[in-house]
Amino acid sequence: MLFLLSLFSLPLAMALPKVLIYSRTLGFRHESIPTAISALQSQTSKYNVLFDATEDNTFFTQSNLSNYDAILFLSTTDSNATVRVEVLNTDEKAAFQQYLALGGNYIGVHSSSDSLTETPFFGNETGAYFDYHPPLTNATIVVLNSSNPSTSGLPTRWPVQDEMYNFKSDPRSLGAFVLLTVDESTYTDTGTRVYNQGSPHPIAWGQEHGAGALMGGASAPVTGIGRSWYTSLGHLSETWEDPLFLSHVMGGIQWALESGSTRAFNTQALVGNANSTTPTSSRSATVSGST
Ligand SMILES: *[C@@H]1O[C@H](CO)[C@@H](O)[C@H](O)[C@H]1NC(C)=O
Ligand SMILES: *[C@@H]1O[C@H](CO)[C@@H](O)[C@H](O)[C@H]1NC(C)=O
Ligand SMILES: *[C@@H]1O[C@H](CO)[C@@H](O)[C@H](O)[C@H]1NC(C)=O
Ligand SMILES: *[C@@H]1O[C@H](CO)[C@@H](O)[C@H](O)[C@H]1NC(C)=O
Ligand SMILES: *[C@@H]1O[C@H](CO)[C@@H](O)[C@H](O)[C@H]1NC(C)=O
Ligand SMILES: *[C@@H]1O[C@H](CO)[C@@H](O)[C@H](O)[C@H]1NC(C)=O
Repeated sequence: MLFLLSLFSLPLAMALPKVLIYSRTLGFRHESIPTAISALQSQTSKYNVLFDATEDNTFFTQSNLSNYDAILFLSTTDSNATVRVEVLNTDEKAAFQQYLALGGNYIGVHSSSDSLTETPFFGNETGAYFDYHPPLTNATIVVLNSSNPSTSGLPTRWPVQDEMYNFKSDPRSLGAFVLLTVDESTYTDTGTRVYNQGSPHPIAWGQEHGAGALMGGASAPVTGIGRSWYTSLGHLSETWEDPLFLSHVMGGIQWALESGSTRAFNTQALVGNANSTTPTSSRSATVSGST
C-alpha cells in the first residue's frame, strides 16, 4: 500500500503548466481582450493549463516570471504617438529576455507583433513585426502544416472574419515554420507592400527554438531553448467565442509548453511552475483508487 502510494506521488506532485497572459495596451485597445482572457481561462480543465493575467508592466521581474511555463502577449500595443512608448521598460525587457534565456516559452496573439517594436530580441522571438492590414474582412485561411496541435483540428480551408496582417519580414528567415496562410484571392488588399514577408503569406507560425532567446549573449540552458508560437488572428470578441478558434490558440499554447524546457514537463528546468497545484479530478481519482 505504502509502495503504491509513493509510486503515485510522483505524478501527483507535478505542477500544472502555468501561463501568464499580458495584455497591456498603450495604443489601440482591442475590445476583445476581456473576452479572450475569460475564454482562455475557461479552457483550464480541458487542457490542464493554468492562466494568470496582468496588464501591470512592473510584474515583469525575474522572480515573478520564473514561475511561468510560458508568457503570452495578448493583443498588446505600444503607444502610437510619434515617440513610441513600449509595453515594457528597459529593466522589464531585461527580465523577460532573461526568462527566455532560461528556457521560457513564448506565445504571441494578434497585435502582439505590433508591440515592443523597437526591441530586436522581441521581434526575433515573435518571428516578424506587423506592417499593416486592410480593413476587417472575410477571408479563407489555408492550413499549410496540419501536424501541429494548433492546426490539426482545423478544416484545410477555414473561412474566418478577421484582420489579414502583412508583416515587415519573413518569419521563415529566422527559422520559423509557417502553419497557416491565407488565400489572397478571397479578400481585397489595396495597400502597398514595401516589405518581403515571403510566400505563401504567413498568418500563424511556430519556432522550435525561439530566436529571441539567445540574443544578448546568453548561452543555452541545459534544459533547452523554449518554443515560440504566434497567430495574427483574434481581432473580434466573436472570434474568441468560436470553439474552432480557441482550439487553434490552445493547441499553440499546448505545443509551446511541450518544449520540455520548463518545470511543468522537466524537473531540472530553471523556470516554470514548481508548485503542485489543485489536482484535477482524474488525478485525485487515481489516488483514491490506489488507497
Ligand atoms: C492611437 O492610440 C489611441 C489611444 O491612445 C487610440 O484611441 C487610437 O485609436 C490609436 N490610433 C490608431 C490609428 O491606432
Ligand atoms: C512581482 O511583481 C510585483 C509588482 O507587480 C512585486 O510587487 C512583487 O514583489 C513581485 N514578486 C516577486 C516575487 O518578484
Ligand atoms: C532579429 O535580430 C536582428 C539582430 O539584432 C535584427 O537585425 C533583426 O531586425 C531582428 N528581426 C526582427 C524580426 O526583429
Ligand atoms: C462574413 O463572415 C461572417 C461571419 O462568419 C458572416 O456572418 C458574414 O455573412 C460574412 N459576410 C460576407 C459578406 O460573406
Ligand atoms: C510542421 O510543424 C511541426 C511542429 O508541429 C514542425 O516540427 C515541422 O517542421 C513542420 N513542418 C514543416 C514542413 O514546416
Ligand atoms: C507556491 O504556493 C505557495 C502557496 O500557495 C505560495 O505561497 C508560493 O509563493 C508558491 N511558490 C511558487 C514558486 O509559485
